[in-house]
Amino acid sequence: MSSLSFSPEEYTQQLETAAATVRDLLAKFPEISSPRVMIICGSGLGGIANILHSEPKVEVPYSDIPGFKSSTVPGHAGKLVFGLIGDKKVPVMCMVGRLHFYEGYSFQETTFPVRMAKLVGVKTLIVTNAAGGVDPTYKPGDLMIINDHINMPGLSGYHPLRGPNMENFGPRFQPLSDAYELELRKLFFQKKEELGITRNIYEGTYCFVAGPTFESRAELRFIRTIGGDAVGMSTVPEVIIARHSGLRVLALSLITNAGLADKPPSAFDKNPKPLDEGMASHDEVLEAANEASKDVQKIFEKTINEL
Ligand code: HPA
Repeated sequence: MSSLSFSPEEYTQQLETAAATVRDLLAKFPEISSPRVMIICGSGLGGIANILHSEPKVEVPYSDIPGFKSSTVPGHAGKLVFGLIGDKKVPVMCMVGRLHFYEGYSFQETTFPVRMAKLVGVKTLIVTNAAGGVDPTYKPGDLMIINDHINMPGLSGYHPLRGPNMENFGPRFQPLSDAYELELRKLFFQKKEELGITRNIYEGTYCFVAGPTFESRAELRFIRTIGGDAVGMSTVPEVIIARHSGLRVLALSLITNAGLADKPPSAFDKNPKPLDEGMASHDEVLEAANEASKDVQKIFEKTINEL
């Protein structure tokens, strides 16, 4: 594992260089050069970047920032977008296209942008993802505000804070019992009410798995048994690094598919259930994501205006 050879001094130097590059690129735009909020756009949620005012807006491909890796996932563009949100013109930094552990990157690499965000002045991380529903009542297009997580790889040793502690960011033993801030969750739901949005938005526990396979049926039952409401392959490493860096966190899952947790058909069944029973078609999933994403954009705009 690469963290064995990881040097906090070298890593800090790389982060400082990345932050200095971003500051230089934004030097001509003082209103947006110190973003207060970082938004990580998950799959199907890249449209969040559209709520930024059109001027001033600066797009920086990851390849222009030393230390940033490029996303290898089709449809994840890989750029930072800097701009303003809401009538209070809150300066934000949007990450369109994220880096996943399953792509083969180390946690130091996948979470590099979060620590760099801290260095350029970000105070709050808003993180989004596409996730599978584990709670049997969840349907594609539902949303879930994350109020807790289960870090499956972390519990067995693949943890983003493993290795020497970055003392200049946070403590060796970071508590996570309050990782998903109550005040931010309340603010989000208050804005949902004010906007009259009726979509199902639950609060629940996100279970992080390494991927890249989707869960087997038995794994889904296991995740449900241990308390997971939704499951996905991202978010938790970024949240842990954000909390270690002292950032406030609001996190949201878009449920794109409802997991198939029933036992598979038996070889002894005379009339086995079709294997895809209950599975949404790809078009249905995309449609649900698109509509839900519009509601997310509206609520985020009003929420961020208060940050
Ligand atoms: N499992 C894991 N990650 C996911 C899923 C899922 O069902 N859906 C979207 N991301």
